[in-house]
Amino acid sequence: MNNSTNDNSSTNGSGVSGYESLDGKVVLVTGAGGGIGRSIAERFSSVGAKLVINDVSADSVDDVVQSIGAAGGTAMGAVADVSSSEAVGVMIDAVMAEHGRIDVVVNNAGLVSPMLHFFEADEAWWRRIIDVNLTGHFIVSHPAARIMAKQGGGVIINMSSGGATRAHRAFTAYDATKGGIEALTRAMALDLGPYNIRVNALMPGSIDTSGLGLDDRKLRGENVPLGRIGEPIDMTGAALFLASDDASYITGDVIRIDGGMLAQQRSATVDIKPPSDFPSVEDL
Ligand SMILES: NC(=O)c1ccc[n+]([C@@H]2O[C@H](COP(=O)([O-])OP(=O)(O)OC[C@H]3O[C@@H](n4cnc5c(N)ncnc54)[C@H](O)[C@@H]3O)[C@@H](O)[C@H]2O)c1
Repeated sequence: MNNSTNDNSSTNGSGVSGYESLDGKVVLVTGAGGGIGRSIAERFSSVGAKLVINDVSADSVDDVVQSIGAAGGTAMGAVADVSSSEAVGVMIDAVMAEHGRIDVVVNNAGLVSPMLHFFEADEAWWRRIIDVNLTGHFIVSHPAARIMAKQGGGVIINMSSGGATRAHRAFTAYDATKGGIEALTRAMALDLGPYNIRVNALMPGSIDTSGLGLDDRKLRGENVPLGRIGEPIDMTGAALFLASDDASYITGDVIRIDGGMLAQQRSATVDIKPPSDFPSVEDL
């Protein structure tokens, strides 16, 4: 390579700060048919990015593409299973035929379920979750990063979880993938930095992507220092920031968007003063 001492001062050398730098950028979001991925895609569209909406579900891809189009944005659909290098190859070719470049990849697609206790689990379960969550990040990033390197740079955003550093019960495979994704993020950042490709991860806390009832939302919110469960929209600001030129000197890092959940100790013996016992604002 001939750019080992690259001196680009921004992701694309534009010198434009803020989200304006994302206007016209080609942004591929995997698993964007719903939940966090959809919200991130819609937010990128709101700042003028051209979206590629990936998901395994064709119906949800159509729905998001139409919704972005109706709001005045630009989006193409790309139905593909991220664990299939053949399907992802077809998707990347289609993006290049349409746009001729890829500026940002958000590796969001991930499987949580089925949740199984370690003794209930089998190898097929383990392999499927590893294939989609961890290998899927590699399969999508590998061709995309080659394209980014040839065009002079780009941004990859991976999707971690609190499970990367604090375990969930019955999530052995999922938590292993998320720990792997954080390690992958650091390793990719080292290998791809000289090509002006930044690689970071987002770590969502408890984000309501399944339409929880009021009681569940309240219960889960009580475990969060900010006092509420997260919404998909809460994930979008950090995604835009990491993709923008304002983050041009940030790579290999993980941003937690969890309302402070991982900042705390939670156990019956340690957490002896719940928020309900805190002084009320009127008493201050
Ligand atoms: N919601 C949370 O509280 C939370 C917390 C931590 C991490 N995360 C992570 O955030 C990401 C998104 O989570 P979410 O809650 O929005 O999930 P979700 O289930 O609502 O959405 C995930 C999307 O990915 C798609 N998908 C699944 N397998 C796929 C595959 N093989 N190829 C392409 N698309 C596929 C699904 O069809 C779905 O539309 C995941 O990586 C998840 O692990 C979520």
